[in-house]
Amino acid sequence: MRLAEEGANVVIADIAPAEEVVAEAEKLGVKALAIHCDMSSGESIAAMGQQVASEMGGCDILVHNAGIYPAQLFEEMSFDDWRRVLSINLDSIFHLTKAVLPGMKEKGWGRIIAVSSTTFHSGLAYNSHYSASKAGLIAFARALASESGEFGITVNTIAPGLVRTPTTEGGPQSQWFDMLAQQQAIKRTETPDDLVGPMAFLASDDAAFVTGQTLLVDGGWRFV
Ligand SMILES: NC(=O)c1ccc[n+]([C@@H]2O[C@H](COP(=O)([O-])OP(=O)(O)OC[C@H]3O[C@@H](n4cnc5c(N)ncnc54)[C@H](O)[C@@H]3O)[C@@H](O)[C@H]2O)c1
Repeated sequence: MRLAEEGANVVIADIAPAEEVVAEAEKLGVKALAIHCDMSSGESIAAMGQQVASEMGGCDILVHNAGIYPAQLFEEMSFDDWRRVLSINLDSIFHLTKAVLPGMKEKGWGRIIAVSSTTFHSGLAYNSHYSASKAGLIAFARALASESGEFGITVNTIAPGLVRTPTTEGGPQSQWFDMLAQQQAIKRTETPDDLVGPMAFLASDDAAFVTGQTLLVDGGWRFV
């Protein structure tokens, strides 16, 4: 919504319906599109990329946000469990970047921003697959940044702490909100709104010389 407020046409690619968000964005006078896309499928992402190219003229700003974090003890985790998390959280950046990078290179301008997590560094019990996927996004971004800078493309990651979202509110994470808030310099629970400004900054021309970076947006979490 913030990118739409700033005049960007937006595509919401999600496995869940996003028509309500599209309607909100359209009220701001931009073009908006919801595309059903399964981030665990390279074919689904490629088809979405083609639709974005034909209906929106390509993608200048890619925000990789889809992610799952099922709590699982490593010893009870099957390889299929591991693969599912890695495919949605990490393999997807491969397919998404394949879809958008050529167009960005052609234009000589592009922003790739992936949502990682402070667990890339701290690790998180019951989340070895998740923590590995989030660290992978950061290493990928740093490497791709090195290849893309000369084309006017920046590649960065944002690492939130524990954010109050419908999924964390309904999950085991909810019991940690208060405890973690006390371990932060800013002693309140993070909300999605806290990520909006940092995201808009990385997407903007103001951040043209910022690349390969991980912006920790975690209220000053002391573990990291
Ligand atoms: N909530 C937190 O505390 C927190 C902290 C750090 C990082 N993150 C990261 O932020 C991102 C969003 O997290 P959230 O808490 O808002 O989660 P959420 O579950 O509320 O949202 C995740 C989104 O991803 C979509 N999604 C899930 N599987 C998909 C698939 N196969 N294909 C396409 N879309 C799919 C969901 O439909 C949903 O819209 C994730 O990458 C998460 O790892 C969250």
